[in-house]
Amino acid sequence: MTLNELFTYCSNQLSFGDCGNFETQCIFEDVLNIKKEKLYCNDMLASENEIQIIDNIIKRRKAGEPLQYILGNWDFYDLTFSVGKGVLIPRPETELLVDFALTNLKGVVNPVVYDLCAGTGCIGLTIAKHLPNAKVFLLEKEQEAFDYLNKNAQNCKLDNVKLLNDDLFTIDLDELPMADIIISNPPYIPSSEICDLQKEVLYEPISALDGGTDGLDFYRCLASKWVSNVKENGLMAFECGDGQTQDIINIFDGLYKDKNIIFDFNNIDRIVTFRI
Ligand SMILES: C[S@@+](CC[C@H](N)C(=O)[O-])C[C@H]1O[C@@H](n2cnc3c(N)ncnc32)[C@H](O)[C@@H]1O
Repeated sequence: MTLNELFTYCSNQLSFGDCGNFETQCIFEDVLNIKKEKLYCNDMLASENEIQIIDNIIKRRKAGEPLQYILGNWDFYDLTFSVGKGVLIPRPETELLVDFALTNLKGVVNPVVYDLCAGTGCIGLTIAKHLPNAKVFLLEKEQEAFDYLNKNAQNCKLDNVKLLNDDLFTIDLDELPMADIIISNPPYIPSSEICDLQKEVLYEPISALDGGTDGLDFYRCLASKWVSNVKENGLMAFECGDGQTQDIINIFDGLYKDKNIIFDFNNIDRIVTFRI
């Protein structure tokens, strides 16, 4: 079998999703280290080992395991993050939070940034890389996710980050500096909807998904506990689920000077921001 034929075989096997070709490209680049451009007209023979690797991946994918967990890393913004069972896979719409922070912190001297519910650290570490003069605090409660956060922070070699293995609801804020911006992509799925999620998503930790009965528990805590840790005119920006922005704005009633909603690529109201 040539590499070209192996590509077509893999792509057909993975076509149960709508992106067999895309996933095959990711696998070839990541696991076999073969770039897409090199595949066209590539009539080199695939080795037994390469065929076996591809077959194993196909088996795991067909069982529903997310490709990102199989590969062990995933790109977000302009960095690559280590991922695996126990931590949420970074999503493209979350990059909008990074854009919001970078745009609004332009010109702020030594900004203090919080990424609450940090998971892999994709939001906070990306901001820290782009703003070397910022001090970025990343908070994550779950040990397995925190281990990924730690690993990713080490890979990024940043000296402007502080990792906090603590709980959003109970952490003592007295020793922490006031924020110029607090960013969070907290768990926001209503508990009763968790069992209806796609098979792939159920591989991800429930603690990263479950936002309580109405999905809004974390936003209530961000309003009641964390607003007081934001400087005057500072910002808060949260990712949320489809149709949750108005409920969140209601939760923050009386706590902000200004608010805004950002829509994602599918025109879903995905991010809500407040000026405090
Ligand atoms: C939706 S995930 C977001 C992960 C990452 N920020 C991202 O955007 O990919 C939410 C994260 O919150 C963490 N988490 C859940 N409960 C928490 C709590 N009480 N305090 C701090 N982190 C918590 C979960 O472990 C998970 O990593």
